[in-house]
Amino acid sequence: MYIEIKNLTKTIRGVTVLDHITMTLEGGHIYGLRGKNGSGKTMFMRALCGLILPTEGSICMDGKLLGRDMSFPESVGALIENPAFLGGYTGFDNLKLLASIKNEISDTDIRAAMTAVGLEPEDRRKYRKYSLGMKQRLGIACAVMEKPSLLLLDEPINALDEQGVKLIKKLILKMKAAGAIIIVACHDSGELEYLSDEIFLVAEGKIKKEERGDMG
Ligand SMILES: Nc1ncnc2c1ncn2[C@@H]1O[C@H](COP(=O)(O)OP(=O)(O)O)[C@@H](O)[C@H]1O
Ligand SMILES: [Mg+2]
Repeated sequence: MYIEIKNLTKTIRGVTVLDHITMTLEGGHIYGLRGKNGSGKTMFMRALCGLILPTEGSICMDGKLLGRDMSFPESVGALIENPAFLGGYTGFDNLKLLASIKNEISDTDIRAAMTAVGLEPEDRRKYRKYSLGMKQRLGIACAVMEKPSLLLLDEPINALDEQGVKLIKKLILKMKAAGAIIIVACHDSGELEYLSDEIFLVAEGKIKKEERGDMG
């Protein structure tokens, strides 16, 4: 898969939150987004999901224009801010409910995704009893369970402990090996940066490729 973003601009109530972004993303690559709070990382991910439409410019995925040829990317998994899970359901049942919208995700896929993020699929605890880290893990499991070709992870490791971070890194590398485009946002020069093939600096809605320097 490849994504061509041309002059992507989004203005909300007179404020330019995405400002003439042009970039190309390719399958099998991990892209890191770094930028202060309010710089536009989440908005950029929302635009890639088709959740907001560009005011100007375009996003093409394998030659198809988002918002014209399709409302949403054909294969996308995303963790963006707080996922809306149901407090009265277990982690597995929450994923099962979401999976039932699309018939392509089996119970085996759900269990594999939960295990990959370090959650126990048979855990009978309800989501409302989950710790912050467990909630974040479930959000990541949800994003990857369909094995999407575009994976968007917005601040995926904020609430995670060391073991959780390790698992997520492993999972991201596995998705990369499967040929996915992975975009990971971190508000600081975070843990995941070294995984990235390219790092972009987001500032005031503009995105600029960062030279790697000594970051390996
Ligand atoms: N729902 C919204 N309506 C209008 N403006 C918003 C909304 N959410 C965020 N913004 C604005 O968009 C800009 C980018 O925000 P965001 O993408 O959330 O930043 P980041 O994820 O990098 O912290 C900020 O100026 C923010 O105030
Ligand atoms: Mg954000």
